[in-house]
Amino acid sequence: MSLICPVGHPLTSCLCDADRLLIQGLEEEILRLRNATVFALSEMLDLKDIDTGLHSTRLGEWAVRVGELMSIHTRDLRDLETGAILHDIGKNGVPESILNKPGPLDPEERKRVEKHSEYGWAILKSIPGFEKASLLVLHHHERIDGKGYPAGLMGSDIPLGSRVIAVIDSFDAMVSNRAYRKGLPMEEALRRLTSDSGTQFDANIVSVFRQIAEQDFAEVIDA
Ligand SMILES: [Fe+2]
Ligand SMILES: [Fe+2]
Repeated sequence: MSLICPVGHPLTSCLCDADRLLIQGLEEEILRLRNATVFALSEMLDLKDIDTGLHSTRLGEWAVRVGELMSIHTRDLRDLETGAILHDIGKNGVPESILNKPGPLDPEERKRVEKHSEYGWAILKSIPGFEKASLLVLHHHERIDGKGYPAGLMGSDIPLGSRVIAVIDSFDAMVSNRAYRKGLPMEEALRRLTSDSGTQFDANIVSVFRQIAEQDFAEVIDA
């Protein structure tokens, strides 16, 4: 996180060496605090549901790779990583009997689960430095066609980071085994992402993520 001077330059380029070192130390301290907060919150989610915790860690890594391929600015990349790791933090507000139900949810239970994106936003929005990530979490279940939740935003009205999280979240959910069903093969999950491009998912993000998933798959086959 770089501090900015009043005319918009990185603060470290406008200062003497001693001040620059002081600012660098402060920036490193802010980053340490941020990483520790992300780690503590994701540990809390692990305690509630270990599968969700692992899912969140994978999403953090994929989000950064997708963001780098899309040339997302470093500062926004950090918000994207935070949002991806903590996208399901609001599940702390959903009863375990619903989260771990071994079968389809009834409409009331589904409504309660869908609240998790708003709960997540409420948890994160008041943490200094997490304001943007909290919005990515709030909108990670929106759809390009406006049929998602909680706000029913459409297309580019949905924050870019939320659109990235939506793609990688759905892919990971499709390929992961659940208590009540086996995960899909990667090719089938990618086929479904592509067929829902432009309705549920951002088509550009799906095609960027395809490159990453296919590269990972090729590496596993070659190993
Ligand atoms: Fe979610
Ligand atoms: Fe998720």
